[in-house]
Amino acid sequence: MLIRLFHERDAQAVSNLVRSALLVSCAKDYPPEPLNAFADTQTPACMLERGRTTHFYVAEEDGVAVGCGAVGADGDDPGVCGVYSFYVLPEWQGRGVGRKIMEALEADDAAREARRLTLHASRTALGFYRRMGFGFVGGDDRPDADGLYHMEKLR
Ligand SMILES: CC(C)(COP(=O)(O)OP(=O)(O)OC[C@H]1O[C@@H](n2cnc3c(N)ncnc32)[C@H](O)[C@@H]1OP(=O)(O)O)[C@@H](O)C(=O)NCCC(=O)NCCS
Repeated sequence: MLIRLFHERDAQAVSNLVRSALLVSCAKDYPPEPLNAFADTQTPACMLERGRTTHFYVAEEDGVAVGCGAVGADGDDPGVCGVYSFYVLPEWQGRGVGRKIMEALEADDAAREARRLTLHASRTALGFYRRMGFGFVGGDDRPDADGLYHMEKLR
């Protein structure tokens, strides 16, 4: 398993894997709409933008992109680092890929220089992020209007 930075040539494959994780895995926890609408925004162009604006990593196995995740600014506070676009292909979930991506993100300078990591967790990924040491912001375990949980990890 290779964890490396995203290249422009990954855009289509990473878009496919994100859409697959959403439409297969998150579909267990969310109604088709707005899940389908959100999945439709996860285009190759969206991945290229993620690659331009964050430190975006890809997990690769035998030349195939099986997972991804990014770290980058969250607002204007340089002490806060956001985690974005965190997905593993359904057939690769539960095999340690997500943990390896998170280790790479936490080793990235953007995360190392921050005092706080933040993310918006899907219900599907909640248990994973808790296992990775994230807790609810302000202890509030209620989802927002989009059904996402606001989580953080203090460093
Ligand atoms: C959430 C996700 C990224 C986790 O990746 P993964 O490769 O399946 O996770 P790993 O196999 O690396 O798991 C690491 C640890 O977390 C635990 N874990 C993983 N998913 C879990 C869950 N849903 N609930 C509780 N624990 C979980 C594993 O048991 C493992 O624990 P261990 O190290 O003690 O054995 C992946 O399942 C996924 O893409 N889900 C669907 C898309 C999604 O919701 N993405 C997040 C958007 S915010």
